[in-house]
Amino acid sequence: MPSGTQNDNAPVVGVQDLKTHFPVGGGLLSRFTGKREVVHALDGVSLEIMPGQTLAVIGESGSGKSTLGRTILRLQEPTSGTISFRGQDVTRLGREPLRRQRRKMQMVFQNPYSSVNRRNRLTDIIAEPMLVHGIGDAASRRARALDLLELVGLNADFAHRYPHEVSGGQLQRVGIARALATEPDFLVADEPTASLDVSVRAQVMNLLKDLKSELGLTLMFISHDLAVVSYVADRIAVMYLGRIVEIGTRQQLESAPQHPYTQALFKAAPKPDPRRRGKEPAPVGEVPSAINRPSGCHYHPRCPLAMEVCRQEYPVLEVKVGGQQAACHAVPAAEVPAGAVTLPVVPA
Ligand SMILES: Nc1ncnc2c1ncn2[C@@H]1O[C@H](COP(=O)(O)OP(=O)(O)O)[C@@H](O)[C@H]1O
Ligand SMILES: [Mg+2]
Repeated sequence: MPSGTQNDNAPVVGVQDLKTHFPVGGGLLSRFTGKREVVHALDGVSLEIMPGQTLAVIGESGSGKSTLGRTILRLQEPTSGTISFRGQDVTRLGREPLRRQRRKMQMVFQNPYSSVNRRNRLTDIIAEPMLVHGIGDAASRRARALDLLELVGLNADFAHRYPHEVSGGQLQRVGIARALATEPDFLVADEPTASLDVSVRAQVMNLLKDLKSELGLTLMFISHDLAVVSYVADRIAVMYLGRIVEIGTRQQLESAPQHPYTQALFKAAPKPDPRRRGKEPAPVGEVPSAINRPSGCHYHPRCPLAMEVCRQEYPVLEVKVGGQQAACHAVPAAEVPAGAVTLPVVPA
């Protein structure tokens, strides 16, 4: 594709075999053995998000959801793998091209209080990304900040207020307005309602959903709350210890989850209700350490279907019955119909 043209059928975001490892060291054991320990926060994730789609990323705490979001936006440098944005490889963009790229990819954070400068007025908070990216002059930035305030459902009375003078839900609206200030194509929302009161969660979710369709945004929505996910997602990716164990459409995963971990997550979750306070889903057992992960399939110690092969080999992510992809030895792969197009075999 020639540069400068946009293909609407191309993914907005694509990642291939993305890995983000954190060396952690200085532990007692490592001092004796001389070996540094590594957290495999992200360990070979591949996915694509198509224009206008919402991909929800779910999984228990520590599964690597935030690291995935941060690495895609390059707020965290990947250890290996590639990240592309509208067909352009952005994995190794230098400082200045990356800064320009950032206009198009923004993040809504979990806790609005810790992600804004408390000494700034709300309009200055919203205008800040425009200032950083050198967009417009002071007057036009201010006018746009007021428009954005209105867009997220806050009237001009809020313009001069400070963060401590508004509620958590109102401040999260400001966080969303700020993320939209540079007219991004792609938003990562990392548990955007988790810190909010139950009463305002649904309002903030509705706002995100409306803005998404109004502005044609592509969204990666990180949450451990399956009720919220059910409300916003087109597709769902399930993560476990740094890897995707299942990915497919919301309907596929909700009606017939294939991976035993996905099944356990959905079983543990109460009926979808966006007003409900989000609880951690609770499959049996504990999440193992991301430093000393179990051999083979990392889920095998908690898995009711575990077989010998599961202790030995990590299962490939493959298409299962139902059409979604899952990584599980115990679930048979979908049969490829005769005459179906298969990937060409690369000669040895
Ligand atoms: N900067 C960091 N240094 C070391 N370990 C980290 C860092 N960030 C995240 N981790 C570890 O990586 C794993 C995944 O974390 P995270 O992406 O925050 O998961 P989630 O968002 O799903 O809860 C966890 O084990 C976490 O402790
Ligand atoms: Mg997180």
